[in-house]
Amino acid sequence: MNVWEVESGSAAVPALAGLCSMERAVDGNWSLEESVSRLKRLHYSLKRLHEMLTEKITHEPIYELKTAYSLHAYLCAEQVDLLRRRVSEMREPPLGLDKCPDESLAVFFDEIHGTPDTLEFLVGVYQVALPAVLKACQRLKKDAHPLADAPTVRVAKLIEFELSEVTSFGQAASEYLTCEQETVDVDPWRKHLSTFLSLSGAMDGVEEIPDIPSPQRRYPKENAVYHREPRRDGRFLDPFNAGVNPEAFLYDESYSAQDKTLMMYYKRIRELDVPEMMASILVDLRDEESWGFHMEMSRQLWDEARHAMMGEVGFASLGIDWTQIPINFTWSRNLNLQLDARERHGVLFFIEQGLMPRTGKRYEWEVANESGDELSALFQDFDWADEVLHAQIGRRWYVPRYDNLKEALSYGDRCWSKVLSYWREDLEKGRTEHRNWWPELYEQACKVWGKEPDEATRAFCVTYESQRADLEKI
Ligand SMILES: [Fe+2]
Ligand SMILES: [Fe+2]
Repeated sequence: MNVWEVESGSAAVPALAGLCSMERAVDGNWSLEESVSRLKRLHYSLKRLHEMLTEKITHEPIYELKTAYSLHAYLCAEQVDLLRRRVSEMREPPLGLDKCPDESLAVFFDEIHGTPDTLEFLVGVYQVALPAVLKACQRLKKDAHPLADAPTVRVAKLIEFELSEVTSFGQAASEYLTCEQETVDVDPWRKHLSTFLSLSGAMDGVEEIPDIPSPQRRYPKENAVYHREPRRDGRFLDPFNAGVNPEAFLYDESYSAQDKTLMMYYKRIRELDVPEMMASILVDLRDEESWGFHMEMSRQLWDEARHAMMGEVGFASLGIDWTQIPINFTWSRNLNLQLDARERHGVLFFIEQGLMPRTGKRYEWEVANESGDELSALFQDFDWADEVLHAQIGRRWYVPRYDNLKEALSYGDRCWSKVLSYWREDLEKGRTEHRNWWPELYEQACKVWGKEPDEATRAFCVTYESQRADLEKI
C-alpha cells in the first residue's frame, strides 16, 4: 500500500504535517506583532521569576525549598532562553527584551519579590504567578496560527509542559505551610497580587483591564534587600562545626574504599553551600553580566543542589538520618560575607579547576567503584561529568576576564587565601564545640554493612584547623 492508497481510503494521512485542521488554518486572526508582544511578556515574567527564585536560595532556611528553588530558577532560565531565541527569529533586532512591558506587571512581581515571608512568597510564585504563566501559554497555544507561527506554539507547549510540575510542587508546599500556620490567612495577599495582575490585563496582556484603583504597594521595590547570609532550618544541627576534615580522610591511602563512600556522601550533602554562594554571584552581577552567563551559571547552581541531594539519598540508602550529622555552612557564609561577587567567582573557579587532577573527581569515582557501593559509583560518575561541565562553564564565563588561564587561577587563589576562617572564634563564642562526629557515623554505617568497625578508621580525627581549608570540597 502506498501513500496515495492511504489518502484515498478512509484513513487519510493528516494534512498540514498534523499541526491543525484546514478549518483552523484558514483563520487569519493572528499577527507577528501580537505573537512578539505575548512572547515578550512571558519572557519578562519568567526572567523575573528566575531572578527572585535565585535570590531566595541563600536565605531560605528550609532545605527542601532551597533545593527546589535551585531547580525552579534553572527551569525558568531554560524557558527564558527558549523565548529569547524565538523573539530573535521575528524580525526583532533590537530585541528590546530588557524593557518592562507593563508597569502593573512590574509591580505585581515587585510585590512577590519584596515579601520577606516564605509563605507569601510561595503563594505569590506558585499560586498566582506560575498559574498565570500556564494560562498565558495555553492561550498562546490556542491563539497563535498553528502553521505560520508553529515555532511559537512549540515554545508555548514546552513551557507549559515543564512548568506544570513546578507549579504542582509549589502548590503542595504552600498548602503544607498554610496548614502549618493555621492563624495566617493568605487570601487577602492572593487577592492583592491578583489585582495587579488584572490591572495589567493578565500575564499576556489580553484581558480587559478593570476600572479599579491600583492597590497600595506593600513591598516597594526600593525597600527590597538581598540577604546574603545563608540560613539553614532547625534540622541542621551544629552548622559551624568544623571538627572533621573529610578530604584528609578521603585521600589517605590507609582507609578502605567502602568507608570512604560514607565520607563522600557527607561531601555531597555539604555541597548545599555552593548554591547558597552561587546565588549571591548571580544576584550581585545581575546587571553586569549577559544572559548567557546567567543561564549557564543557573545550570551549574542547580547541579550543585543535585549533588547535595545525592548525598541525602546516599545516607537514606544506608538508613542513616542525615540530620544527626553536622552539615557545615561556613564556606558559603564566609565567602558571601567577606568577598565581592568577582572574588567569589574566582574562588569557585579555582576550586573547581582543582577537582580535575588526581585527587579530584576521577579519584572519587574510582574509590566509589572499588567500594562495591553501586549507588555511590553511580552518583560519582555523574558528579564527575557535571564538574567537567562546570570547569568548561568557568572557562567560558570567568577566564576571558583575565589575560590567560594562569592569571585567572592565580586571582582565584589569592581571593581564596584572603577568606578568614573564624574557627577559633566559633568555638570561643559557643557557636559550636567542633565535636568529632565521625566515630558515631562510622559505627552506624558499619552496622548496616554488617562489619566490625576498623579501629584506626574509627579513630580518624583531622580537623580543619590543622590544614588549610577544604580545597576539594565542591
Ligand atoms: Fe558539585
Ligand atoms: Fe561544580
